[in-house]
Amino acid sequence: MSESTGNDRCRVVVLISGSGTNLQAIIDSAADAECPYQVCAVISNKPEAYGLTRASDGGIETAVVNHRDYLDREGFDTALIEAIDRYAPDLVVLAGFMRILTPGFVRHYSGRLLNIHPSLLPKYQGLHTHRRALEAGDREHGATVHFVTEELDGGPPIVQAIVPVEDGDTADTLAQRVQMQEHLIYPLAVQWFAEGRLRMSTDRAELDGHPLPPSGHRIDSRRT
Ligand code: GAR
Repeated sequence: MSESTGNDRCRVVVLISGSGTNLQAIIDSAADAECPYQVCAVISNKPEAYGLTRASDGGIETAVVNHRDYLDREGFDTALIEAIDRYAPDLVVLAGFMRILTPGFVRHYSGRLLNIHPSLLPKYQGLHTHRRALEAGDREHGATVHFVTEELDGGPPIVQAIVPVEDGDTADTLAQRVQMQEHLIYPLAVQWFAEGRLRMSTDRAELDGHPLPPSGHRIDSRRT
């Protein structure tokens, strides 16, 4: 890969609500001179989100669009679109952004909106994924990066990391093991997009012009 200059790099805006460890992994990858993307801004719906500090420490612009300041989802999402589009992003990345988005928002960024979810989708859409995997007695669990569509946690998977469930795991220990893998697969998916290798077709993600399997590209952490 040839060295990217600041100006021709894919422009990424990251949305967060909390700690921002996935954001940190993306910022760290973007620090490489050859990385094909740059993080232009980080936007949070929560003023106290620690990810805002991570962004400032990395010299990245931040903004807060507090959902509590809006009467309804439409009003919030309209303000959010305004805040995001100020940075003219090529890609919008949801990294622990814990708000349900309106269909209008999702359509506005169709094909350039990614999310990470802490389960092997389509299993365990929604919340408490680690606890649910343990309660079901699953022997493997993981995380999925996917394109966002109007169906909650239902868009085409891009890449999944599989982690083993170990005897004695709690929701916390399992979450930690899954998060370590999240920090590898999210920068990878963003890199693929930034290199122009990844696109969303009707019901699948495509990599290098070929449809990915229904679960996306799978990386088994037991074999890496
Ligand atoms: C991550 O584990 C991510 O998978 C999850 O929130 C966490 C955010 O952590 N996302 C969802 O549950 C979305 N439905 P982070 O703020 O440290 O990146």
